[in-house]
Amino acid sequence: MKILKLLFLLLIINLNAQQGGMWIPSQLEGAREKEMKSLGSNLTAAAIYAIDKPSLKDAIVHFNGGCTAEVISKKGLLLTNHHCGYGAIQSHSTIEHDYLQDGFWAYKQKEELENKGMFVTFIKRIDDVTVPVLKGTLKNLSNKENQDIISQNIEKLVKNTKKEDWQEANIKAFYKGNQYFLFVTEKFKDIRLVGAPPSSIGKFGADTDNWMWPRHTGDFSLFRIYADKNNRPAEYSKKNKPYKPNHYLPVSVDGVEEGDFTLVFGFPGKTNKYLPAVALNQIVSTLNPVKIDIRDKALKIVDKYMRNDNEIKIQYASKFARISNYWKKWIGENQGIEKSKAIQKKQDLEKIFELKVKGTDDQNLLAKFDKLYKEVEEVALARDIWIETVYRNVEILNATYRIYQLELASQKGKEAFNEQKENTLKSFKGFYKNYSAKVDKEVFRTLVTMYFKNNPKKYTPETITNIAVTKLTNTIFSNSSLTSLDKLTKLLDGDMNSVLKRINEDKAYQFGKELVSIFYTKINPDFNAIQTKIAIVQKKYMSALMQHFPEERFFPDANSTLRVTYGQVKGYEPKDAVYYKPVSNLKGVIEKYVPNDYEFDVSEKLIDLYKTKDFGNYAKEGKIPVNFLGTNHTTGGNSGSPVIDANGNLIGLNFDRVWEGTMSDYNYDPEICRNIMVDARYILFIIDKYAGAKRIIKEIDIVHPKKK
Ligand code: ARG
Ligand code: GLU
Repeated sequence: MKILKLLFLLLIINLNAQQGGMWIPSQLEGAREKEMKSLGSNLTAAAIYAIDKPSLKDAIVHFNGGCTAEVISKKGLLLTNHHCGYGAIQSHSTIEHDYLQDGFWAYKQKEELENKGMFVTFIKRIDDVTVPVLKGTLKNLSNKENQDIISQNIEKLVKNTKKEDWQEANIKAFYKGNQYFLFVTEKFKDIRLVGAPPSSIGKFGADTDNWMWPRHTGDFSLFRIYADKNNRPAEYSKKNKPYKPNHYLPVSVDGVEEGDFTLVFGFPGKTNKYLPAVALNQIVSTLNPVKIDIRDKALKIVDKYMRNDNEIKIQYASKFARISNYWKKWIGENQGIEKSKAIQKKQDLEKIFELKVKGTDDQNLLAKFDKLYKEVEEVALARDIWIETVYRNVEILNATYRIYQLELASQKGKEAFNEQKENTLKSFKGFYKNYSAKVDKEVFRTLVTMYFKNNPKKYTPETITNIAVTKLTNTIFSNSSLTSLDKLTKLLDGDMNSVLKRINEDKAYQFGKELVSIFYTKINPDFNAIQTKIAIVQKKYMSALMQHFPEERFFPDANSTLRVTYGQVKGYEPKDAVYYKPVSNLKGVIEKYVPNDYEFDVSEKLIDLYKTKDFGNYAKEGKIPVNFLGTNHTTGGNSGSPVIDANGNLIGLNFDRVWEGTMSDYNYDPEICRNIMVDARYILFIIDKYAGAKRIIKEIDIVHPKKK
């Protein structure tokens, strides 16, 4: 009877796994291709990825190491998210030309703006190098010995890779180190800003609507790749020319309907699908709640000041968005994991696993996980509390962290110290531009109080355990030089020894130094030691899962490499009796409009276009579509990824997920996990009708695949 129940569970688990997955583009032939066809695709595996002829992959780039972007014209025009171009747009903004607020459009090519330090990376080739990487590793060698062999193999393989002078090669681990792939890449460094809508379009709904549906955000911006006279990567130069790509994506204006095939091509950052139940439980019950709680308190304080003070609002807008982004994600993640019974499902699978591995080498893996996750809990908690308190939320403690790096550099001598000092001062200029001691003081008092209450004693410096926080806060914020750039610059003025002496007399630094040093001497080493052991068990567990569940679809966790995820346009039921349709329209922007609100203001021009129905060819049944939902399995890093239709045309731009589905990093559930995309027609409508940037519209290849 018990066996029957387990078999039944096994069946359910398999059916549930029929969607989701982030696949390696060079491995689509066969099963993946067939699955895509069944979802409505006309694309062959070779149309998506090929090395001997142009394919879709030649239009996709890793944007500045984090987001994704795609080439949408034969002149190297790049489309990505507004929130991915945000830093660049901000860097060109001044009070007279506030491109974040008003938008920016280069009406002529020579108006396109240089972005120092920005780069994009193409993937030229992907090779499975598992066999040569693992060559020489043996079961009876120690883990350390095997790891050394692997590192040497990787180094040799990278060095011997056939590639052009201007290309690079690197190797990454997949399936927890059971497979390895080599990537030949090409990195372009002259990337110019071409266009961005105002934040009232590109960031419409801001934090309130973030991770939510229904959504109405025009989260896009435009850049261009420039190359040298041979069409190769080059540093910025006036002489560079628009890059001629091997492939670019035509843009379809035929629109989407529920059930249409969608392929998202991009660089997802990190997922963790194959954790044991005990690990997921630790995240949900112990780690996420503490992180959420710390951010919750910090955000409430910052929000209060932002609402009452315009200067503080500008100073903290970007920081607030960053902190609230994952705060909100974790809350959704925890609820989703609970609602989808993800832990229970893992436990069910583990029961079957135990039966299958009985008597084999793998029979102790789950017990090992249990032991190791118990062992790591305290230090993992201390580490997260440290990161959230010292590094991310209490700014003056983050400043002590930077000064600690400076003190460390002094151990390497005066030259290293002076070099580090210059960099530190440079980074502090940006830091203090957006710093308010008033805000930080309250965050400090609140978060340091929480720190003493929640941080494990073993990882709290003994020297400060009995400190009275209110008094400490007052002392620090009236005496420390770390509360303003002026005072700090004076503190760091002079030769190495006098600076070292002075910083060690500073009240904030004295306190911060205790916290930073315990991180380096205890928290991090303890954490890494156990993580290394966990990684070894995880590698074996992954391999055992693949061996014992051969009928399962195993996709490798995201690791910032190029992936394909496919699905369909689809709505969902967030809760009982509520159904969310998959497409939102401009009408909804107007419905959400709150005059002068920093999240929901709408510009007069957009209201005019709406009222006069000046929609060009971009409307459908009199409506301008704005965003739509799909079942593509995406994560952070997929921002800016193209959404491609059944025939290889761009129909949208990925930028978010729905709140109820943010748990997809651990447990993709096709019932509830949805990615959110900007409709390509909204993008063209804004460029054409809102901005009047005909030059840009003209270079885009606009197609009508459904009308053919
Ligand atoms: N949630 C999206 C992503 O993770 C968008 C973030 C940017 N927008 C914002 N309001 N913070 O990154
Ligand atoms: N907004 C995310 C990003 O910046 C993508 C959304 C997600 O996490 O799925 O990559």
